[in-house]
Amino acid sequence: MIEVNKLSKSFSELVVLQDIHIQIRSQEIVVLVGPSGSGKSTLLRCLNGLEEPSEGTIRVGNTRWEASMGVQAKKQAFRDIRWLTGMVFQSFNLFPHMNVLENVIMAPMIARKIPKEQAVQLGEDLLSKVGLLEKKIEYPSRLSGGQQQRVAIARSLAMKPQVMLFDEPTSALDPELTGEVLSVMKQLATEGMTMIVVTHEMRFAREVADRVIFMSDGKIQEEGVPDQFFAEPKTERARKFLRQIGE
Ligand SMILES: Nc1ncnc2c1ncn2[C@@H]1O[C@H](COP(=O)(O)OP(=O)(O)O)[C@@H](O)[C@H]1O
Ligand SMILES: [Mg+2]
Repeated sequence: MIEVNKLSKSFSELVVLQDIHIQIRSQEIVVLVGPSGSGKSTLLRCLNGLEEPSEGTIRVGNTRWEASMGVQAKKQAFRDIRWLTGMVFQSFNLFPHMNVLENVIMAPMIARKIPKEQAVQLGEDLLSKVGLLEKKIEYPSRLSGGQQQRVAIARSLAMKPQVMLFDEPTSALDPELTGEVLSVMKQLATEGMTMIVVTHEMRFAREVADRVIFMSDGKIQEEGVPDQFFAEPKTERARKFLRQIGE
């Protein structure tokens, strides 16, 4: 579903990602971990074109982006890739002046030109999936952080992505609110969504991930199934990271 080859990213002199190779199967759940500043967010942002990689190739589904392509072709490739990928951030970024249902249905109505009635049906289905149908006419400011993040997930799903990217979706939440967001993500995983999740929730990684990728200093240092990664990390860097976070 996703293939990344020789991807690098620099911000002027600062090299943030170096020679990244990743292959992700359809329906695979990959958890990306690593110390702060290791390049996890930049990698996710490169995958859907929020940042332009300096070098390398990205394939999502049948769409390829290559650093060596022309400017217009690259733009079009990322436009196509963005149709296939949904992204959920640490900050929920809901539209404050729209109610919950409007937040969810706006993009499909405008970008996908789905008629209102059909969009409302879709929005209500997604809100009930994340357990918030009864909040559909509330404004975001009246919701808890956990509820807002669940709306943000529903909003992203409304565009029918084939891949979901999550960048620390529970890091801004009080501990008692993380569970409701993680359980929505778990449910998505069991329904066969392809997901890349950056998180510090190691229990989620152990329980849900098919594979854990450990990054530090802009490189993938090691990867493996969760049991292996947590029990017998191969690199000293990963051992140190796991000790520091108390795993
Ligand atoms: N827009 C940017 N301009 C310059 N440096 C950036 C930019 N975005 C990220 N960085 C730098 O890239 C490195 C990796 O950041 P990031 O991808 O956010 O790491 P992580 O998500 O693993 O904490 C950091 O050193 C950060 O300061
Ligand atoms: Mg980050």
